[in-house]
Amino acid sequence: MGPPPASSPGETVRSGPHVYDPAGPAGSLHVRAAQVLEDNWTGTSTVPSRRLYPHQWSWDSAFIAIGLRHISPLRAQTELETLLDAQWADGRIPHIVFNPSVPLDAYFPSPDFWRSSTAGRAAGAPRTVQTSGIVQPPVHALAAWLVHRSDPGLSRARGFLARVHPRLAAWHRYLLHRRDLGGGGLASVVHPWEQGMDNSPAWDAPLSRVTPAPARSFRRADLDHGAPEDRPTDLDYGRYVRLAADYRDGGYRDGAAARYRDGTEGRSSAGGGAFAVEDPAFNALLIASEHALARIARELGATGTARHARAEHLTAALVDRLWDPAEGLFLCRDVCDGSLIPERSVSGLIPLLAPTLPRDIVAALVRTLRGPHFGLGGATRLVPSYDLLGEAFDPHRYWRGPAWFNTGWLVERGLRAHGDGASADGLREALLTTADATDFAEYVDPYTGEACGALGFSWTAALTLDLLHERPGHGVSPAGIGTFDRSEK
Ligand code: SER
Repeated sequence: MGPPPASSPGETVRSGPHVYDPAGPAGSLHVRAAQVLEDNWTGTSTVPSRRLYPHQWSWDSAFIAIGLRHISPLRAQTELETLLDAQWADGRIPHIVFNPSVPLDAYFPSPDFWRSSTAGRAAGAPRTVQTSGIVQPPVHALAAWLVHRSDPGLSRARGFLARVHPRLAAWHRYLLHRRDLGGGGLASVVHPWEQGMDNSPAWDAPLSRVTPAPARSFRRADLDHGAPEDRPTDLDYGRYVRLAADYRDGGYRDGAAARYRDGTEGRSSAGGGAFAVEDPAFNALLIASEHALARIARELGATGTARHARAEHLTAALVDRLWDPAEGLFLCRDVCDGSLIPERSVSGLIPLLAPTLPRDIVAALVRTLRGPHFGLGGATRLVPSYDLLGEAFDPHRYWRGPAWFNTGWLVERGLRAHGDGASADGLREALLTTADATDFAEYVDPYTGEACGALGFSWTAALTLDLLHERPGHGVSPAGIGTFDRSEK
């Protein structure tokens, strides 16, 4: 592959004080971002980080494909197809697909913890590849659609959408049917790793029910490669291990809605089934991906109408079950006791992605984003993962305050899709300058931009590429979230 172009064909890029100019230093930013993805490519997929995360991760791969499409649509398609090859027969896409050539002690929990091919047999885990048994947010249909759009000729020639469509449909069916644990039409997560924001303070109350696995029963590998003050605590890890082990020991079976709705089993069990949460970001991504799946169905000759309708239904359920008008933010719902969890996290802003969100809710979310709890454009130029004024706020520790690039990208997309081009441009600029200055850090201190976690992080590089290929100053990008705005049907 030759050096990638600095911008998309035919793209005109505004210059000015607040716009990243790909003809200037960003040209080299493009080359360096592409190099990160090259270094982290294994031949069939991309590791999030060579040392900290040496396998394939589900939502990482979806974000990575969204950036890869700008330098190699073929590799972007392959990234998603490798992940989908590890899908279970019940429709779930596992959160990790293990690379058999990586030593077992390089990452914990390793394949011998998850035991997918034995413990997951009844749920239809694949025989040929080892995976985890939990899931991650459904960014995949959105990624598949955007990858298709980057080179429709190649996509059609390879039958890309025709091959991925049934798998993505099965994935969404799994989430909408097997994971509607609250019975209100939204998908629940059964482990903090499923939602992706592992140690968010929003999980502190539901996790407090879980008896941690004894510290001596496992060995963390993440601390070999990440500073302890940037990573979750041992107490949190003990709880993650207990929840995952209990789910595994139950054959990765998903509970009936009633099991959680009356709260009794969730509260009495010291682990298994003790954690079930409806999360705004997870469900907003499902909404965006349902709209994308409708686009994919249309491209394949179906109408897509039922999918759009389902996305609207999900949007209504999201508002009904998780919107808190007093906070001007979406909150998580603890399905075990039915309560809304009173913690402000970036997850509550991500429903900005939903194209048919009521206008008054969009306006309230933008006010919250710019207000004292998230500080965008004032105290911070990036979006913190947690309430700047929250008691649990920590600017360095994983998902308890630092700013992440994927959530920043999602908020940027949402602002642009709803016509707030000026805010989107400011955030885009801050994401690009910070990625540049930190060597594509995994996450950063939201006040100072100081790098935390791993460097050379794949989704940071991938989403940098995506932002570089966008035309700033536009309300809706032709290659962005706005592609499945219903008005474009
Ligand atoms: N994010 C988790 C980890 O740190 C699990 O996917 O390993």
